[in-house]
Amino acid sequence: MTDEVRICIDGRPLSVPPGTTVAAAIARAGVARFLRSVLGQPRGPLCGMGICMECHLTINGQSHCRSCQRLCEQGMEVHTDPSGERRSEAGGRRPDVGLPISDLRLQTSDFVQSEPALNNRTFEFEIVVVGGGPAGVAAACAAAESGRRVAVVDDTPWLGGQIWRGQQARRSESGGRRSEIGSPTSGLRPRLSDPRRWLERFRNCGATLLDRTSVIASSRPGLLLAEHASGPRQIRWQRLVLATGARELFLPFPGWTLPGVMGPGGLQAQVKNGWPICGKRVVVAGSGPLLLAVADGLKRRGAQVMSIDEQAPLSQVMRFGVGLWAVPDKLWQGALLKARLLGVPYRCGVWPVRAEGNEQVQRVLLTDGRSVWTEECDLLACGFGLTPNVELPLALGCQVGGQRSEAGPTSGLRPLTSGVCVFVNDWQATTASNVYCAGEPTGIGGADCALAEGQIAGYAASDNRAKAETLFGRRARWHRFRAALARAFALRDELKFLASDDTLVCRCEDVTLGRMRQFSSWREAKLQSRCGMGPCQGRVCGAAAEVILGWGMESVRPPVLPARVQSLVSQGDHGQRSEVGDRSSENRPPHSALRPPTSDLRIENRRS
Ligand SMILES: Cc1cc2nc3c(=O)[nH]c(=O)nc-3n(C[C@H](O)[C@H](O)[C@H](O)COP(=O)(O)OP(=O)(O)OC[C@H]3O[C@@H](n4cnc5c(N)ncnc54)[C@H](O)[C@@H]3O)c2cc1C
Ligand code: FES
Repeated sequence: MTDEVRICIDGRPLSVPPGTTVAAAIARAGVARFLRSVLGQPRGPLCGMGICMECHLTINGQSHCRSCQRLCEQGMEVHTDPSGERRSEAGGRRPDVGLPISDLRLQTSDFVQSEPALNNRTFEFEIVVVGGGPAGVAAACAAAESGRRVAVVDDTPWLGGQIWRGQQARRSESGGRRSEIGSPTSGLRPRLSDPRRWLERFRNCGATLLDRTSVIASSRPGLLLAEHASGPRQIRWQRLVLATGARELFLPFPGWTLPGVMGPGGLQAQVKNGWPICGKRVVVAGSGPLLLAVADGLKRRGAQVMSIDEQAPLSQVMRFGVGLWAVPDKLWQGALLKARLLGVPYRCGVWPVRAEGNEQVQRVLLTDGRSVWTEECDLLACGFGLTPNVELPLALGCQVGGQRSEAGPTSGLRPLTSGVCVFVNDWQATTASNVYCAGEPTGIGGADCALAEGQIAGYAASDNRAKAETLFGRRARWHRFRAALARAFALRDELKFLASDDTLVCRCEDVTLGRMRQFSSWREAKLQSRCGMGPCQGRVCGAAAEVILGWGMESVRPPVLPARVQSLVSQGDHGQRSEVGDRSSENRPPHSALRPPTSDLRIENRRS
């Protein structure tokens, strides 16, 4: 059993279990408001996964740190935002600037090999996988087992993406192996997507893990620019697999900015990392099967789940349930979830219209389209499914597109199933040369689909096509499941009208829907109102604007994630040395070739 970690929050000492995020520690200290917005509104964590920047705090004297992504370390000094000052003098907030190098490596070191922390390095691998979720882990295993030198790059301190997050932490806590929250069959029988099996396989496959490393740009083909707490990194690749996953889709409604309104997946992620939930009254609302998995996980941790409110009509959900006979694993999981959630109302055709509270959520108003009623709660977990992370694929020149039933624009490309996804062919190859894509960026299909696609991408990138082909059948099965998911949980039109003109859509810059409506496109609205120009870079409001206003993302400017100026301007300075996995330095381009045109680089996508 590892000792508790002692930290100090606003001068008050607090002991937390190892593996607790700073955001969870703040919640354990009873603090709901983490900061105040540009207009002075109270705010707390929304996404729980490093996207929204609503949880930033001062940690060890360093301002603008994303507390949901930082693990507590012995002696850490944390300050919430008593002044109400949110924006930097530059007009925006910047996360994680100059983090201390005293990294814990608590989780990755338990299970997988992790490279040593050195400054300013250039790495070179035959195959680089961006994203360490199920798709990335499967791609890395397939490629490394095919004899390639492989690295997985992930911006979190844990391997396993969203769904397997917290696996290693709990092992550390308990000294044993416990089942994960949100995994309905865990502990009952081995599953194809058993995280322990995959993490073990990853540890044995010889791939390298570059954790806490965010890929922020690609200055030219074959080169990624990344950022680590210890400094900028350059990562050279011959083949690239993009497995960047998805984030939750948030749709604005009055009160959605109150502390305590969080994404279901985000809340679950934080609960996995120590967020106190026992005895809390939680309403789970929005759309998708994730609601059930989250409700089950929260209930098992002692939360009082008041209701699960699914926006999709009962008929659609029933049809989806009946169709699960074709995927017995899922049928079994669904049945088990329903059994575990016995007594918790699961209402279809119901959605939230308003959250209310004083400084934090206290109640939610729900409707079935005919009447409106109130549910008292301490937390509202509300998300309307997932939306793929396509910013990096776009920046690399991969073709993406919206939902369509016809074939893609290039011969052999598969039709898309939901949202804006990356086009791939049978080998998971994108339209960009030597770039593959797997998992949620190609369509929202769940972890099993991500595993099948990831393996195919890994084998194909290793020219091991025979092995890849053996997985086509499995992938086709999960693609049918993916299509059924998209049909069953399609968003109803009423959700487009939840926000009124004075509802904030852009939370970073406090821009209302009424203000945004004055413009005709995302680009024009950005330039005139600053919506989407804050530190989340439009990841929250951009997806909402797409649903509400029908505006699409036109282009992506690097950096794809907020980055330090130093990471961008110094990227030509350390191309001399290649580290782990470099067996081909003789083929390296001259140092000067690594310098990107500076005009390619922007710090956040702000108005110039
Ligand atoms: C918040 C959340 C919670 C979820 N919880 C559950 C659950 O409980 N049960 C369930 O069945 N499904 C859950 N899902 C869905 C599930 O995560 C996916 O179906 C599945 O994990 C997809 O795997 P993936 O590998 O495609 O993506 P992910 O698992 O999302 O992995 C993508 C990884 O890429 C990393 N990444 C992205 N961009 C970069 C970059 N530029 N640089 C470096 N790293 C990058 C991310 O940090 C992440 O680790 C959840 C999804 C979300 C968003
Ligand atoms: S809650 Fe931390 S970034 Fe969204």
